[in-house]
Amino acid sequence: MSTPNPAQPRRLENLHTDKGKVPVYATGVVDQDWAGYTAEDHATWATLFERQRKLLVGRASAEFLRAQDAMGMTPDRIPRYTDLNAVLEPATGWRLIGVEGLLPELDFFEHLANRRFPVTWWIRRPDQIDYIEEPDLFHDLFGHVPLLMNPVFADYMAAYGRGGVKAHAIGADALQNLTRLYWYTVEFGLIREAGELRIYGSGIVSSSGESVHSLESPAPNRIGFDLERIMRTRYRIDTYQKTYFVIDSFEQLMAATEPDFTPIYARLAEQDSIPAGTVLDTDHAYQRGTGEGWSTEGDV
Ligand code: PHE
Ligand code: CO
Repeated sequence: MSTPNPAQPRRLENLHTDKGKVPVYATGVVDQDWAGYTAEDHATWATLFERQRKLLVGRASAEFLRAQDAMGMTPDRIPRYTDLNAVLEPATGWRLIGVEGLLPELDFFEHLANRRFPVTWWIRRPDQIDYIEEPDLFHDLFGHVPLLMNPVFADYMAAYGRGGVKAHAIGADALQNLTRLYWYTVEFGLIREAGELRIYGSGIVSSSGESVHSLESPAPNRIGFDLERIMRTRYRIDTYQKTYFVIDSFEQLMAATEPDFTPIYARLAEQDSIPAGTVLDTDHAYQRGTGEGWSTEGDV
């Protein structure tokens, strides 16, 4: 069942976790009240869309840009989820559902496992154009949804959801290992295309600053994908990443995550976590960051 959305998202609570204060919203699926968007909302979408597309040509994965075009997202107005679903469902079986915002982990995993992608229905205010600390419609729709058109990535996201349900049952440490994988692939991943680094992570493609920083700044490390290494690596939620991990292809990501993680979680429980900015001797480092501008505290 779905209910019409109220004028404001319904925040249920702020959880105090090891990640700091995390907002958790009502868990129900809501209709996207498209007629309720204001001219200002549509203008915010247009501004963000046009700015990002300009930055991303030549920076984002060609696959991301192609997928975004194929979905028919345009700058002129906020897309209707029903219109996008008419294209997405026949392509990969995924469907967008409206939500108030961040969901509790298990609800989120169950949606993914069933090929439902939760999209926050509200868009940020004009004064939040450059930075917002929680996902809104622009991050979810512009950042996450296009790659669901890619069959391999679409399968990866559903497999991740099933893995999340499993990790949730195993315990908090397993969940933390799996969350780091999501962070360093789905949210902040880089990919090598024709010998050059390109962006595919949603957290990067929806941020103008990080779209440039992730590829062009000398500050961060850029390290070849390594599953267990990533699952040990802490991260930043309030600054640009200190380290980006680079995949060679979505097939590589899919193949690396195919095995049962249960023995991996057991093995990782015996090992220390790695600070966000550390480079190990065993890393394949495309770039060792200068660390310029890094704050010394605050990895989660
Ligand atoms: N193979 C993982 C497991 O057994 C599930 C998974 C798939 C996790 C894809 C992440 C990505 O738990
Ligand atoms: Co996201």
